[in-house]
Amino acid sequence: MNKVSFVPHSPQSLSSVGLVSMKVAVIGLGYLGATTAVALSLVGHDLIGIDPDQAKVDALRAGRVPFFEPGLDEALAQAQSTGRLAIQAEHTCTSADVDVFLLCVGTPQSRSGMGADLRYLESSIDDLAPYLRADAIVVGKSTVPVGTAEALKGRLATLVAFEPYLSWNPEFLREGTALKDTLTPDRIVIGVDEPHSEALLRQLYQPMADLDIPIVKVDSKTAELVKVAANSFLATKISFINAMAEISEQVGADAVLLAEAIGYDERIGNKFLKTGIGFGGGCLPKDIRAFQACAADLGLEQSVSFLAQVEDINMRRRTRVLDIAREELGDLTNRRVAMLGAAFKPETDDIRDSPAMAVAELLWAAGAHVVVHDPKAVDNVRRMYPNLTVADTLEEAVAHAELVVVGTEWRDYALADSAVLGHLAANKLVIDGRNVLPYRQWQANGWKVIALGRNLEHNPVEVLV
Ligand code: UGA
Repeated sequence: MNKVSFVPHSPQSLSSVGLVSMKVAVIGLGYLGATTAVALSLVGHDLIGIDPDQAKVDALRAGRVPFFEPGLDEALAQAQSTGRLAIQAEHTCTSADVDVFLLCVGTPQSRSGMGADLRYLESSIDDLAPYLRADAIVVGKSTVPVGTAEALKGRLATLVAFEPYLSWNPEFLREGTALKDTLTPDRIVIGVDEPHSEALLRQLYQPMADLDIPIVKVDSKTAELVKVAANSFLATKISFINAMAEISEQVGADAVLLAEAIGYDERIGNKFLKTGIGFGGGCLPKDIRAFQACAADLGLEQSVSFLAQVEDINMRRRTRVLDIAREELGDLTNRRVAMLGAAFKPETDDIRDSPAMAVAELLWAAGAHVVVHDPKAVDNVRRMYPNLTVADTLEEAVAHAELVVVGTEWRDYALADSAVLGHLAANKLVIDGRNVLPYRQWQANGWKVIALGRNLEHNPVEVLV
């Protein structure tokens, strides 16, 4: 470990004069790993990023982030210019200098059930074991079932000739704001069971601690639980407001106004109460399923049985769009539908478990000719959904459409010219699945607007973007 003085010229103005630079290996260079490696090298640590996917390694080495994440390309270039970020496909002898191994590999839903597939974590442990020094620490950041750290430590202990250090440090970054969330998180949770790992993790995060970012020290099991608890709570909040939307639609009330009204209560808060077609992405859906599987393994199925309802509500919001489409158009066979948005949320090209794509598939399965547009995700749609038509422009998607559905709350859609789109569409009918359209302007241009959970007739309040 070297003493360095480093003041990064990043917008986050993280400065840590006198930081004790550490040699850190990040295993897995997806959203989490790539962002973590870039961020930690920017604050002054010496990073090796390792991923077996040679194409990903080549792209990152060439300064290209292989997915869309705002600001990460520039930050990667900045990190590379410091000379403190090496990217490679496997461990080399330099791994023997590493002080901290950060495990950032995926923990996808297992093919055989709702639980998490831990095989990438296990192979990461096997691969790093030959290089692990007795005083180096291994730290998991991926989302895992409780007890995983203990099991991985046991596995590692069989591969080395000393008692290894293994702890858990869950990550809370969101796609779309990943860099900011990593450099200036709300909190850092370190799940440690002995003082050596705690000391090294505190040193690793000194630049964040200097900014008064709280560091919450817990044991490794609590740390594992914190992450799934946080994501379960967020999913529950969204499904709660979407349950209110179901009731509001039935009785003619307005769930957007309801959310605003309850959100002023500080105990409730106004965040994560946006009603629409629900949550998706690579984390919330799989994490609530894995949590239910983990609880069932512990014989505690009942403790989180409400998560099954959270998921049911989420799925019903998707089919609600199909129901409305049928109510409005009747038989959907060969009806042209424009799906605006494919990404699971704006500012990403990620379409994993995307509500917009789920709705597009439902409409397609009902016979509709679905044309999908997205400002960033069309390449992924082409690859994953060869059955759907992809439009390169918003206008192309809306041309001749008998129904327009907003599936992702991109600003482009909120700011679209509804008069121009009205001339292109065959039928001026739009279902706003994300409550982002300035609907009075759309109505003034002749559109019939149906907004999920809203009563536009009685509550003339615009949602502002
Ligand atoms: C989520 C968590 O927010 C992060 O804290 C966590 O680190 C991450 O998962 C993870 O486990 O790695 P992310 O998947 O990037 O982050 O997405 P979110 O911003 O949580 O949004 C999830 C979904 O909920 C999106 O489809 C979004 O459109 C939807 N959503 C969000 C709503 O429908 N309503 C809202 O009010 C908020």
